Amino acid sequence: MRAARFHEHGGPEVLTVDDVDSPEPGYGEVVVDVRAIGVNPVDTYFREGAYPVPSLPFTPGSDLAGVVDAVGEGVDRFVPGDRVFGTGLGNGMHGTYAEEVAAPAEFLATLPEGASFEDGAALSLVGMTAWQALVAHANLEPAELALVHGGNGGVGHVAIQLAETMGARVLTTANPEYRDRLESLGAETVFDYGRSDLTDAVQQVGAPEVIVDTRMDEYMQFDADVAAQGARVVCLGNSTEQAGLSAVGAAKSKDVRFQFMTMYNTPDKAAVLARLGDLLARGEVVPEVERTYSLDEAGEAQRAVLEDSFLGKLVITP
Ligand SMILES: NC(=O)c1ccc[n+]([C@@H]2O[C@H](COP(=O)([O-])OP(=O)(O)OC[C@H]3O[C@@H](n4cnc5c(N)ncnc54)[C@H](OP(=O)(O)O)[C@@H]3O)[C@@H](O)[C@H]2O)c1
Repeated sequence: MRAARFHEHGGPEVLTVDDVDSPEPGYGEVVVDVRAIGVNPVDTYFREGAYPVPSLPFTPGSDLAGVVDAVGEGVDRFVPGDRVFGTGLGNGMHGTYAEEVAAPAEFLATLPEGASFEDGAALSLVGMTAWQALVAHANLEPAELALVHGGNGGVGHVAIQLAETMGARVLTTANPEYRDRLESLGAETVFDYGRSDLTDAVQQVGAPEVIVDTRMDEYMQFDADVAAQGARVVCLGNSTEQAGLSAVGAAKSKDVRFQFMTMYNTPDKAAVLARLGDLLARGEVVPEVERTYSLDEAGEAQRAVLEDSFLGKLVITP
């Protein structure tokens, strides 16, 4: 079978497609015949060497959707032929950029009837991230005001839909090119992320009780400044030395709670995926698949996920 791997760390060009042995399912694992793979910024961090990999060559990739091919000992939730989707691979274990993948069964859920493999793969990591941020960490309640940064991104466009489905009012900072489409996904107000009066503009609409910060660098001080009394800010973007609060006054005076998270820590991934599958089946949270790539184009997909502007997700179909 074919797998896109890197033999050394570097730019997108280090990804090559190799012929490798088909995997056998270990204890608690399921071998999936992969039909679609979500492309995420984190896949590039492992390739670049910013995040550690167990050994080289390494197959990146967190998300997958496909058909169960074989089931290992200790797995009773799936049988061959089941359609599944899942996430969490590629971190401490090989990833999903391959035609066949041995995945822990606890990282998988049933892909609902009628949902495409592309939708399942596109939803899994970003859906789990949005779920952990809004449901597990922020405890978002109906009618609260939520602010999602990076609304046209993978996480952002799904977080908008999830928050709206939970009954919240949703504001978002985004590329203004996608305003209409983000409003149709459930955003009440889309703020051009480039405007110089962003703080005033948000404050005129209201003080968010929940903020999902997919960027952090530009926004942590902004988050504290616009937040409501007792707001919950969930930080999941990349951080640099610039990320942080330059002045803690606003955060202290309003008892703002900052929560940092990684979706890899989700305790029961299968349970969250099952809920996301239900929302997908009911059309409540549906990823936008902007473009699909072949496995041979994996490097180009990884370049695009960091450099190109788009709404939603990029997907590889091996
Ligand atoms: N901690 C976790 O568990 C976790 C999970 C998932 C993702 N992440 C991280 O979260 C970040 C977002 O992930 P993603 O998958 O959503 O990435 P993505 O699809 O690349 O989305 C990022 C979005 O941010 C937008 N953006 C650029 N500048 C902005 C600004 N100043 N204000 C608001 N939005 C801006 C981009 O729009 P344009 O391209 O149109 O400019 C793009 O749509 C990444 O750093 C990723 O590694 C963390």
